[in-house]
Amino acid sequence: MDKLEIFGAKKLRGKVSISGSKNAALPILAATILSDRKIILKNLPNVKDIETMIKLLESIGSFVKYSKKKNLVIIKNKKKLKTFASYNLVKTMRAGILVLGPMLARFGNAKVSTPGGCSIGVRPIDIHLKALSKLGASYKIINGYVYANSKKKLKAAKIKFPKISVGATENLIIASSMAEGTTILSNCAIEPEIKDLVNFINCIGGKIKWIGKRTLSVIGVKKFKENEYSIMPDRIEAGTYLIAAAVTEGNLKISGINPKIIRTEIEILKKIGIKIKSEKDSIKISGTKNIKNINLKTSPYPGFPTDLQAQLMVLLCKSKKHSTIKEEIFENRFMHVSELNRMGAKIKTFGNKAFIEGNTNFKAAELMATDLRASVSLIIAGLAAKGKTTINRIYHLDRGYEEIEKKLRKVGAKIRRVS
Ligand code: UD1
Repeated sequence: MDKLEIFGAKKLRGKVSISGSKNAALPILAATILSDRKIILKNLPNVKDIETMIKLLESIGSFVKYSKKKNLVIIKNKKKLKTFASYNLVKTMRAGILVLGPMLARFGNAKVSTPGGCSIGVRPIDIHLKALSKLGASYKIINGYVYANSKKKLKAAKIKFPKISVGATENLIIASSMAEGTTILSNCAIEPEIKDLVNFINCIGGKIKWIGKRTLSVIGVKKFKENEYSIMPDRIEAGTYLIAAAVTEGNLKISGINPKIIRTEIEILKKIGIKIKSEKDSIKISGTKNIKNINLKTSPYPGFPTDLQAQLMVLLCKSKKHSTIKEEIFENRFMHVSELNRMGAKIKTFGNKAFIEGNTNFKAAELMATDLRASVSLIIAGLAAKGKTTINRIYHLDRGYEEIEKKLRKVGAKIRRVS
């Protein structure tokens, strides 16, 4: 099993280019099931989750020409596809559940594996299923599979999500874009990735409009058209490199991202004393020794993202006073804490609240990665620690960060993969 070795205490300096967004690309790939016309997707990140979603599409009969090198995929679906997503493909990637909506909308039935539990929390799909049933689908869960059916075409409805969910909003946008009539979706998640999905569906002929801050009107269409679309940049990757620069007290230019989509993250970094200059499509950051403390909580967009909580925690370990982070999205997303404490951090957790004592000088250690964002937080701590840090189980990392070692090496990190 691959592991990473980092020889830390080196400032990151130079330029990092941001890849396409994994979390935008996954629902867009699922939405291609709606159409039987040629679709070209550009700026796809070359990461494992994308490979898995492409395998899923191939397994149901999509014709897929995927160039990892060019970050591009050409998809042309047959008139008829299989409506089955196997456990083997959905188990590693929760976004597999996003094929349920388009299969139901286009073919009237689907058998999709439930994504099951996940290390960061229970992550149920009840909101997806209840909302799809409002469009006329019926479903049963048997032996870990959702069997869903809509005898006739899905019918438009007014749906108010009981809780903000990124995945449920995406599944319903995709399904209702082919349902009969006009669906109104309210209390939607408004993450930039959701907006990218809406833009993509509209670009292949969908009729979706924002009619309120969290409300969408979706007019169902019967047929989609051929087109090409470029996936938005990965805001979580951008935030990760910003924090890595701050933790190593380096100077980085993060390019290929509009700073407006990570306004909250930039504001928080500025608040704790980091110097940031936003330009049109890039951000310059200079680290400092004098990091101030902060109390914050994660929340749905435009709040501070849960996907950057672990990385920010590493930075707050270096603050002069103690900070707190309340994790409001997932119930078990502090698994990086025990590993960071093994590196000299002083963090205590009580339920969903973490108390982070500052003034930490990270020490190198042998570590175990537990989930995608926890893995990257350990890399960031390793970059700051003197000596050799080894991180095991990095397959989590490969799910979501394109060429992370290469990008880090380019800006001065000493990091290598050992097989
Ligand atoms: C997506 C992102 C993930 C990010 C998360 C929150 C992708 C592929 N993944 O995950 O990186 O951390 O948004 O920004 O884009 N919930 C229910 N029932 C449901 C659905 C969700 O109770 O049917 C709960 C979840 O357990 C969680 C909360 O709602 O506590 C938010 O989850 P959700 O926004 O749905 O996250 P994902 O779409 O799974």
